[in-house]
Amino acid sequence: MSSVKKEIKRITTNTLQKMKASGEKISMITAYDFSFAKIFDGAGIDIILVGDSASNVIAGHETTLPITLDQMIYHAGAVVRGVDRCLIVVDLPFGSYQSNSEIALASSIKIMKESGAHSVKLEGGEEAIDSVKKIVGAGIPVMGHLGLTPQSIYKFGTYIVRARENSEAEKLKRDALLLQEAGCFAIVLEKIPADLAKEVSKSLSIPTIGIGAGGDCDGQVLVMHDLLGINTEFKPRFLRQYLNLSEQITTAVKQYVADVKSNDFPNKSESY
Ligand code: KIV
Repeated sequence: MSSVKKEIKRITTNTLQKMKASGEKISMITAYDFSFAKIFDGAGIDIILVGDSASNVIAGHETTLPITLDQMIYHAGAVVRGVDRCLIVVDLPFGSYQSNSEIALASSIKIMKESGAHSVKLEGGEEAIDSVKKIVGAGIPVMGHLGLTPQSIYKFGTYIVRARENSEAEKLKRDALLLQEAGCFAIVLEKIPADLAKEVSKSLSIPTIGIGAGGDCDGQVLVMHDLLGINTEFKPRFLRQYLNLSEQITTAVKQYVADVKSNDFPNKSESY
């Protein structure tokens, strides 16, 4: 008996390039484990980002700084096992690439080899260019990240909108071009004015993916816990919350507790 296996068309960096050229918007969401990655892949998401936001939403740290390379690889490996179609991008965590380009390459190779992911992301412009070139030179696709760069929180001291001032906006535009020239396949623009994001998106041939950067980026990304309402304390203006999962989970678990206490669960049909 022959089995007919449905061929799944994988999203690649080339696909994203074509999407930008044709004006089709790119959807990206974070995920950190097998089960959610499988649901998101099945729902038609284009890119899954194994974000270092795992440091916040999974580990409960205040910043993204504490998460380690091995912890990112653990999350990335789980996501890879849940996905048939999406492109998977993994954040290079703080401390795994800033020292020099050799270290940046070694960290990227470790992610690719041990997790099976398809690409890496790093924060920064001009200062990250040598590393981007080195990693891309080894055949590993790199996504850039400009604007609000959470790994630099102690340098900036706040999570407010970036690049409102002319000098910072000009630097961001230069950095975006440098990242493109260095070989990045896409750039995340986080929390910058919509007009600036529009200008940058128009000036680049590679896609921009916005978060708090308005509707003219080539795609959008949200952290899954924010989109699904798991983390209800975080309510920035840019966030559209599609579910209130925290409330739904609380209701379900309260019911479970009550059923256990009243000996309603398990009943006869739920027993052997
Ligand atoms: O780590 C992350 O989740 C991110 C997104 C906010 C873009 O970098």
